[in-house]
Amino acid sequence: MENIKIGIIGAGGMLPYHYKGFTKAGAQVVAIADANTEKAKTAAAPYGIEKTYDSLIRMIEDNPDINAVSVLTPNKFHMPLAIEALANGKHVYCEKPPALNASEMKVMLDEAKRSGKRLMFAFNNRARPESQAIMKYIRNGRVGAINSAQATWIRRAGIPGFGGWFTTKELSGGGPVIDLLHMIDLALYFMDYPEPDYVLARTFYNFMDNKNFKGPWGIPDAASGITDVESSCHAMLTFKSGQSLMIRNSWAEMNEREVVSVVFQGKKAGGKVERLFGRDGFDETSIDSCRLFTEENGNQVNRDILVEKDETMGRIASAANFIESIQGTSEPLSTPEQALSLMKITDAIYESASAGKPVQIK
Ligand SMILES: NC(=O)c1ccc[n+]([C@@H]2O[C@H](COP(=O)([O-])OP(=O)(O)OC[C@H]3O[C@@H](n4cnc5c(N)ncnc54)[C@H](O)[C@@H]3O)[C@@H](O)[C@H]2O)c1
Repeated sequence: MENIKIGIIGAGGMLPYHYKGFTKAGAQVVAIADANTEKAKTAAAPYGIEKTYDSLIRMIEDNPDINAVSVLTPNKFHMPLAIEALANGKHVYCEKPPALNASEMKVMLDEAKRSGKRLMFAFNNRARPESQAIMKYIRNGRVGAINSAQATWIRRAGIPGFGGWFTTKELSGGGPVIDLLHMIDLALYFMDYPEPDYVLARTFYNFMDNKNFKGPWGIPDAASGITDVESSCHAMLTFKSGQSLMIRNSWAEMNEREVVSVVFQGKKAGGKVERLFGRDGFDETSIDSCRLFTEENGNQVNRDILVEKDETMGRIASAANFIESIQGTSEPLSTPEQALSLMKITDAIYESASAGKPVQIK
C-alpha cells in the first residue's frame, strides 16, 4: 500500500476535518502552508507538525516526498493551486466549489488527465452515513430510476460575513449557489449525474447589507470589502434523460429555519436525506435523518433508516476516501468529470438569472 505524505495549503476552518480524515486512513500530514505564515504555524502546532510555509511551491520544493496536496483556500485559488500541485506530480484533494466556473474546472480536469494523478473534491455530503445508506437502496434497485428531485440548502440568516472573500464574487465565484452547492451535487449523485439540458433560474439580492442576517460562525466583516453576490436562488433544471431537479439555495431569505436536504421521487420509491438546524449554523442542535417512501403490502410506508450520527456531515469520511482511493482500497466518491458538469450547471444558473430566460447547457 502506498505510504501517502500530504501537504495542506490553507490553514482555515476546514483543516481539522482534512487532517483527521487523512490520518484516519493512514496518511501522514507532513507540512502546512498558508499565505499567512502565522496561521500556518498556529494550525500546525496542535498536531506537532513542524514544517510550515507561505506558499505551495516552497512546501513542495522543500518536501519532495509529499505525494498528495490538500487545497483549502478561498475558491479563487483552487484552480491555480490544484494545477501547480498536479503539474508537480501530486494527487489533489480540493475543497468545494471545485473552481470559480466551468472553464477553470476544464483546465483542472485536463491537467489531472495529463498528469495521471487523482483529483478529488470535498463533496463531503456524499460521504454522510445518511447518503451512503440511501445510495444502497438506489444501487440495489429498490428506488428505481429517479424521475425528479429537490435540492435545498436554505438559510434564514446565514451570510458568512460582509466584505470578506465569501461575499466578493471575484474571490468566491458567487454566493449561496456556489457556496452551498452540496445538495445540488448530492441530488446529481443520487440521480447518477445525468447530462443536464436546460436551466431556468432566478437569483435575489436581499438583506446583503443587513447585519441581522449574518451567520453565527464569527467570520469577521471587512469594512472596505466588497459584497456583490446573490442572497438566494430558485432554479429548475432538466436533463436529457427526462429527469428534473428543483434547486433552492439561500444565505438570507425569509425561511422558517436552515434546512439542508435532498428529496427524490423514484419510479419504485422516494426518499430523503436531511439535516435540520435548530438555528442557522448551530450543529449541536441539528437533526440528521434519512427516509424511504415506499408502497408495501398495499400500504403506503415511510421508513426511517437509522444510521450512526456524524456531526461533521461526512467531512472526515470524505477526506479518508481520498486516501483510500489512492491506496486502491475504496472507489473514489467523486470524479473530475462530475465536478465539470456541476460547474456547468452553476454557470448556467447565473447566466439564466442574468438573461431572464432558460439556458441550454452544452
Ligand atoms: N466542505 C465544507 O463543508 C466547507 C465548509 C466551509 C468552507 N469550505 C471551503 O473551504 C475553503 C476554505 O474555506 P475556509 O472557511 O476554511 O476559509 P478561511 O478563510 O477560514 O481560510 C482560508 C485560508 O487560506 C489562506 N489563503 C488565502 N489565499 C491563499 C493563497 N493564495 N495561498 C495560500 N493560502 C491562502 C488564508 O490565509 C486562510 O488561512 C473554501 O473553498 C470553502 O468554500 C468547505
